[in-house]
Amino acid sequence: MGTTRTQVGIIGAGPAGLLLAQILDKAGISTVILERRDRSYVEGRIRAGVLEQGTVDLMRAAGVGERLDREGLIHKGIYFSVDDVRTQIDLEELTGGRHVVVYGQTEVTKDLIAARLAAGGDLRFDCVDVTLHDVESDKPRLTYVSGDSEHEVVCDFIAGCDGFHGPSRQALPASLLKVYERVYPFGWLGILAQAPPVADELIYSRHPRGFALYSMRSMKVVRHYIQCLPDTDLEDWPDDRVWDELRLRLAPQDQHLLQTGKVFEKSVTPMRSFVAEPMRFGRLFLAGDAGHIVPPTGAKGLNLAASDVHYLSRALMAFYAENSEAGLDTYSETALARIWKAQRFSWWMTSMLHNFGPADDFDTRVRGAELAYVLSSRAAMTSLAENYVGLPF
Ligand code: APR
Ligand code: PHB
Repeated sequence: MGTTRTQVGIIGAGPAGLLLAQILDKAGISTVILERRDRSYVEGRIRAGVLEQGTVDLMRAAGVGERLDREGLIHKGIYFSVDDVRTQIDLEELTGGRHVVVYGQTEVTKDLIAARLAAGGDLRFDCVDVTLHDVESDKPRLTYVSGDSEHEVVCDFIAGCDGFHGPSRQALPASLLKVYERVYPFGWLGILAQAPPVADELIYSRHPRGFALYSMRSMKVVRHYIQCLPDTDLEDWPDDRVWDELRLRLAPQDQHLLQTGKVFEKSVTPMRSFVAEPMRFGRLFLAGDAGHIVPPTGAKGLNLAASDVHYLSRALMAFYAENSEAGLDTYSETALARIWKAQRFSWWMTSMLHNFGPADDFDTRVRGAELAYVLSSRAAMTSLAENYVGLPF
């Protein structure tokens, strides 16, 4: 068995694991990343694409902000389309000059992998059966199989950045782990297509036929979503039907703005809110989707992974530089305080904008009133804008 020694063993080469490795590497802390999939799979995964200022700052500080600064699209506002009226929410004006940057998570991942490999960092793909050992000791270990041989990584700490389905969260004892969850009765059917954006900013549309979101990746590539049933079969959704549905969920006077084009990706994302507590057990720390999932309506998933990484990297740097465990001890509590606020926002945006079914009941009316209130009140819109651009780390 080949054994490697490192300071922080990281499971998962998604944005959380890669960004953590990049920041620690800059601080002179050694890391090994173990990823189950191959590089092309990881680089091809399509996810959301709205970065908060704090995430952008973190990418820049980690030395991976160059292409993001060049190609990212600055968005100073968003639109809500409701009952045939499109209203602008001026993020910059409402938040004293803050904005978001539209840049695909796929690109974030590619930039982080390129930086890691250029720096000669240890990043291992195709790791089978990654298993955590001795996480309560001060020399935890990871084992995995690659090819025909078994390997071992001995470290000081393990960062569980292995997403929702990874083994890290399962390594917490059932008696300690508490899970909070909400599953929504719908999903999003998303497409990537070669077409110009519908408008200068993203449009979030609440429509009797269901929610739709008109987003973009560049001035030539759009990312659009429609609310669908969670078990939707893509066979039932040929491109023409998707475009027709996207058009119908715009306000009538905006429908001519939708331009169609070649669809090159189509998938269905289920929607759930999920939080696991605590995010630490012994020398194991969870970060990103390993600890929590948000529905994509507020575009918070990647940004939460970034804020976790910010807290965890600072705690690890303080440990190695000053022998201080204070940041490690408070990591779970500090990260969760921000996570719950983003959970609230994502749940609230999801509730307010989606169609929950045909019932005309009390809840439906309250959701409608909530949205009408937000769009008529500067105070409420300011709150929405403050959360959308991202609460401070
Ligand atoms: N062993 C090694 N790696 C694993 C294992 C395993 N058993 N299981 C999962 N992984 C890897 C996945 O293949 C993936 O590359 O862990 C990585 C987790 O990455 P993400 O799922 O992208 O999660 P995270 O890095 O926390 O990023 C959060 O991703 O899902 C979105 O909305 C979410 O935008 C947010 C972001
Ligand atoms: C996206 O462009 O993929 C996107 C944008 C905003 C969201 C969710 C996803 O709220």
